[in-house]
Amino acid sequence: MLRLSGSEQAELHRMAFSVRNKSLSNRVYFRGLVEFSNICVNDCFYCGIRKSNGNVRRYEMSPEEILATADIVAGNGITSIVLQSGERRDRRFIDSLVKTLTIIKDRYPHMGITLSAGEQERSVFEEFFAAGAERYLLRVETSDEEHYGRLHPPDMSFRNRVRCLEYLRETGFQVGTGVMINSPYQTVENLARDIMFLKSFDIDMCGMGPFIPHGETPFARYEYDAEKSLNLGLNMISVLRLAMPDINIASTTALETLSSEGRELGLLAGANVVMPQFSPAVNRREYMLYDNKPAGETPPDELMDTLKRKINAIGMVPEMEDRGDSRHFITRKAMATADKNKI
Ligand code: 5AD
Repeated sequence: MLRLSGSEQAELHRMAFSVRNKSLSNRVYFRGLVEFSNICVNDCFYCGIRKSNGNVRRYEMSPEEILATADIVAGNGITSIVLQSGERRDRRFIDSLVKTLTIIKDRYPHMGITLSAGEQERSVFEEFFAAGAERYLLRVETSDEEHYGRLHPPDMSFRNRVRCLEYLRETGFQVGTGVMINSPYQTVENLARDIMFLKSFDIDMCGMGPFIPHGETPFARYEYDAEKSLNLGLNMISVLRLAMPDINIASTTALETLSSEGRELGLLAGANVVMPQFSPAVNRREYMLYDNKPAGETPPDELMDTLKRKINAIGMVPEMEDRGDSRHFITRKAMATADKNKI
């Protein structure tokens, strides 16, 4: 299925669209994305903000600046926010993030907060959860240990990544992960196994998107076919939707980079979440994970109007009331409680 093209591919996407509509609905959930810092201790071979890229102006938004951005997210009627950054494990970073979570939760008690701040100690995940984060995104990038090793430096490991995902689940988070699609050395077989990994890990949410080279990384000149990446990206969404009908799947920014209609195509292929960018315009250019990542200066309310119109145009409905917790997570929790009561 991952290799399909043409009319068979269209059929696959239609099936996934209809499975999503039946198991969830035709509603699209919004997550206001705030990329609050590009400082990173990791040196992933594919990533534009890897620590050894000296050509990036590094920034870190203060808790107050992040709160002001949350105001804009809330002002646009969005009920969930994603706080994403490069990875750091120092106390100053952790304390500042805990403070940020606390003040956002205080002002917006009902807002869904997702964190995406890399690998941490179990106790740190617990601190974030206690401070009000209920969802966490940590992409595994690939489910093949050897392939993982070819994308990352020796101080990073697949095992630790998976261990972190386990900690997150044990802490009580809605757990999101995903992979990079059409990344260097990856085969379609790898991607098929990735789907099985996501399914057997029983994830609640997924964000995955095509790899796009960045000029200042070791993969700068990696030969790469944008059309193939886009098709594989869309087919991955559809196949995952068929395998896991009730999880949240994001239509990601990388799809949008490859095609001006990328976001709608992702929704048409079975995704149900979009993550419009709310990072202050001054910082967007510095959060270049890959070349040509959209960093326009269009004000958020204009972007939101366009996005809502495009969603309506493909037969889906922008959902602005329900904050869209993962249905899979809600069911998983209810089943665990029922089990406990039986005992
Ligand atoms: N192309 C596409 N996605 C990338 N990411 C990092 N670098 C790239 C790239 N060159 C993705 C990774 C990471 C997420 C924040 O961004 O999957 O988990």
